[in-house]
Amino acid sequence: GKSGYDHYMRKEITEQPRAIRDCLRGRIEELGATVSLPELEELESPSAVQFVACGTSYHAGLFGERLLQRRGIPAQTFVASEYDADQLPVDEETLVVGVTQSGETADTMRALRGANRAGATTLALTNVVASSAARECDHVLYIRAGPEISVAATKSFASQQVTLSLLATALAETADPSSSASREHLRELRRLPDYIQSVLDDSNARSVAEAFLESDAYFFIGRGYNAPVALEGALKLKEITYRHAEGFPAGELKHGPLALVTEATPVFAVVSSREKTSATIGNVTEVQARGAPVVAVTDSPETVGSHADFVLEVPETHPAVMPIVANVQLQLVAYWLADALDRPIDKPRNLAKSVTVL
Ligand code: F6R
Repeated sequence: GKSGYDHYMRKEITEQPRAIRDCLRGRIEELGATVSLPELEELESPSAVQFVACGTSYHAGLFGERLLQRRGIPAQTFVASEYDADQLPVDEETLVVGVTQSGETADTMRALRGANRAGATTLALTNVVASSAARECDHVLYIRAGPEISVAATKSFASQQVTLSLLATALAETADPSSSASREHLRELRRLPDYIQSVLDDSNARSVAEAFLESDAYFFIGRGYNAPVALEGALKLKEITYRHAEGFPAGELKHGPLALVTEATPVFAVVSSREKTSATIGNVTEVQARGAPVVAVTDSPETVGSHADFVLEVPETHPAVMPIVANVQLQLVAYWLADALDRPIDKPRNLAKSVTVL
């Protein structure tokens, strides 16, 4: 059942600290310096990684791609329906990772089968034990989010991001066993459940959402590690509120979307105090010059927040952990806006939890 919540989506948002603890259990070694993923013992170090996924899982792939690239591992993400292994440089040293909560998404399965045929090594990153993806890939890594009932993916996205963080660290360790640069990252991953709990306990996302009930459109921007979360914030909002929303890497705004920005289009800007801060604040200033209200999702309410009309605060943490926490604020904005608009949150029109047709 919904354990007293009005919607499964709210229950699943609230379950994220526990889902992440389950995901991490036994996977970071005692001293906190290395990752242990026995499932991948037989996996050879890949020369390149390709992520194939759809929707929210595609956004997780974009995050995984950034994690790997910063560790010097070539990585690329594909919308699964656009992936064609025969047109790409793929061999047995290429690791193709299907990111799929259900493990049954037809587009993702088609991409993975093509990768298998082309001779790639395949890995399923999935929530569902013995799903098609788990059965048909060479390797499986479970995200351990627990059952997700709401059509909108929430806790599974957090668990995908955490699992990808472990995978990236594990692959980097294979590439360079002396690497200890990930120590802070792993420590912060272990603190992530507490960070998310503090957001769940103190979030003002409901009043922010209610300040923008009648907006023309909702825009989301972020850079680097926070760019995928901007896309995800927009997807979640459009899915459950039926309002127009778009997400962009912050620097793309000026290349077109800025023409749509007015007083009636709030801009949600995810701004880290530790990475690319001044560039993203520059984008905030650009939209404010067009009269748009700005909601900053930031770990630095004093410096960044002074540029914004509203602040959704997140704890200060490692730059690769911040997006996982920031996304929770955006989930809550979408949820409370949909609730105020009285939408059927758990079952949005035209959508299915598992898309098993091409
Ligand atoms: C959005 C959502 C969808 C799924 C997509 C892929 O909230 O749930 O975009 O993420 O259909 O599904 P999986 O991960 O099961 O392959």
